[in-house]
Amino acid sequence: MANITLEKLVKNYGEGDIIKSIDLEIQDKEFMVLVGPSGCGKSTLLRMIAGLEEITDGKLFIGDRLVNNVHPKDRDVAMVFQSYALYPHMSVYENIAFGLRLRKMPKDEIDRLVTEAADTLGLRDLLDRKPKALSGGQRQRVALGRAIVRKPSVFLFDEPLSNLDAELRVHMRAEIANLQKRLGITAVYVTHDQVEAMTMGDRISVLHNGHLAQVGTPLELYDTPANVFVAQFIGTPNMNMLKMKVSDDGTSVVHPDITLKVPERLKAAVADRKGKEVFVGMRPEHIVAPDEHSWSNVAEISGKAEIVETLGHEVVVHMSLGNDTKRIVAKMDVHKVPQIGQQLELNVNADNIHIFDNETQKRL
Ligand SMILES: Nc1ncnc2c1ncn2[C@@H]1O[C@H](COP(=O)(O)OP(=O)(O)O)[C@@H](O)[C@H]1O
Ligand SMILES: [Mg+2]
Repeated sequence: MANITLEKLVKNYGEGDIIKSIDLEIQDKEFMVLVGPSGCGKSTLLRMIAGLEEITDGKLFIGDRLVNNVHPKDRDVAMVFQSYALYPHMSVYENIAFGLRLRKMPKDEIDRLVTEAADTLGLRDLLDRKPKALSGGQRQRVALGRAIVRKPSVFLFDEPLSNLDAELRVHMRAEIANLQKRLGITAVYVTHDQVEAMTMGDRISVLHNGHLAQVGTPLELYDTPANVFVAQFIGTPNMNMLKMKVSDDGTSVVHPDITLKVPERLKAAVADRKGKEVFVGMRPEHIVAPDEHSWSNVAEISGKAEIVETLGHEVVVHMSLGNDTKRIVAKMDVHKVPQIGQQLELNVNADNIHIFDNETQKRL
């Protein structure tokens, strides 16, 4: 069993905590993604699990074993980095075998494991090559090979796909996720890319300034973001967020450019905020042209098209509102690409809005 338990984990380099008392339970065989903007502490947390960073405070368990003071090589984890860290003078075979040789494993056992890993990763015909004669994707596979021959209990990945081009990244993310499931090895995968997080993770932990903003399945984060940060971090284009005022009777939220009828599910939460400010989130796919939906609780919004992004399967329009400098992003039908500067009259699905507390920024 290789579940990983973080109990009030803290990292401090001297001035302020970089990791601020994190509690997290990663299940055996789970693919857990740690996602967050650059500098939020993802690599630090991963390196603490690997044993490459000292733990300032709190407890870290792998399985039932407290590993705070266990040497990295005795934690039974294998780490894959963005930089691949391959030895340029060694062949693919030697690179994959390197860790096993260090452990003084018998030659024929090494041979069996390397061959098996090479088969798994489609590297059989490349074993004699040097890294410089490989493509980026092949190098990344060699780095994976080096991790899997060790048959670790835990895989740790730190942005392993960042150096690859977009197409290869999409291919490799499916490959890594499949490999992890096939081998049944618990994985912790760090990325700043929310699409990678959404497509790969069984669950996602969103890290923000050294604390966990939310932990959940991809759809939980998308449909029920815990706070403004997660709401705007998960999903492309970003969720629209407007500061609005709850009407005096508590039945609607009001902005100079738009009035939304509060959906039934939010009425009770909004009732004690009459006349107060809140943040209202609207996903771009919930703002479309009037003839493109059959919604019942609809609000009208009008503005001018400022940026038009034609993506093929959809059109993303950034529009400016009359009274607000803020732009609203909407998704429109590909057959009605607006001109820049064109006046748009769109509809918002008010039943799908999210309302957040003005101060705590937590979702109501
Ligand atoms: N060795 C170190 N000494 C001091 N501060 C560090 C050290 N390593 C990282 N940091 C700081 O910790 C924060 C988190 O860094 P990091 O974990 O690398 O972020 P991420 O991987 O999410 O981009 C950053 O503000 C970074 O400057
Ligand atoms: Mg990092």
